[in-house]
Amino acid sequence: MTLLVGISGSLRKHSFNTGLLRAAQTGLPGATRFEISSLADIPLYNGDLEAAEGIPPSVTALKESIAAADGLLLATPEYNNGIPGVFKNAIDWASRPPADIGRVFGGKPVAIIGASPGGFGTVLAQSAWLPVLRTLGARLWSGGRLMVPGAAKAFDAEGNLIDDAVRERLHKFIADFVDSIARASQ
Ligand SMILES: Cc1cc2nc3c(=O)[nH]c(=O)nc-3n(C[C@H](O)[C@H](O)[C@H](O)COP(=O)(O)O)c2cc1C
Repeated sequence: MTLLVGISGSLRKHSFNTGLLRAAQTGLPGATRFEISSLADIPLYNGDLEAAEGIPPSVTALKESIAAADGLLLATPEYNNGIPGVFKNAIDWASRPPADIGRVFGGKPVAIIGASPGGFGTVLAQSAWLPVLRTLGARLWSGGRLMVPGAAKAFDAEGNLIDDAVRERLHKFIADFVDSIARASQ
């Protein structure tokens, strides 16, 4: 059994990136489970809050879901050619305290996908994750790439993927990612 955990970097109800994760949950390879973790309850990181109250329960839940995953899938929106603050904030929280980074992220297979209405489909946001993942000691899976440009046409008004060609590429991406995880654990 391979457990994938997906995180969407958008809080939007009809988010394209959350829709991409929902579409990834269909058509999984055999013996794969795919859970989606939400960022909705993650507060803004504040060192004073951490010092006074420790790690918030929503952050602990996120950390434990990442720690339990055999593979982590980040569906990143792109804001101003970079990582949206909401998403970076959540991963920054998940990297606290530093003594836990190895347990939560160390050697963790991580794949990145993303969708945007523009022509480049989050290519720059995806690249912006690379130094973050390196810092956390995660293991970037680079066996495939999935950018979804023109998202307003690929998704319906509720953020459901309606483009069958994208769905096919997404399912192949997931199957290849799962395969690489299974091989590495043999
Ligand atoms: C502050 C801001 C900056 C943005 N910058 C970019 C950008 O640099 N590149 C891009 O492709 N889309 C950009 N967009 C458009 C987002 O890709 C779009 O809002 C998308 O729907 C966000 O993902 P979501 O649907 O998962 O929420 C930006 C949107 C916002 C709100």
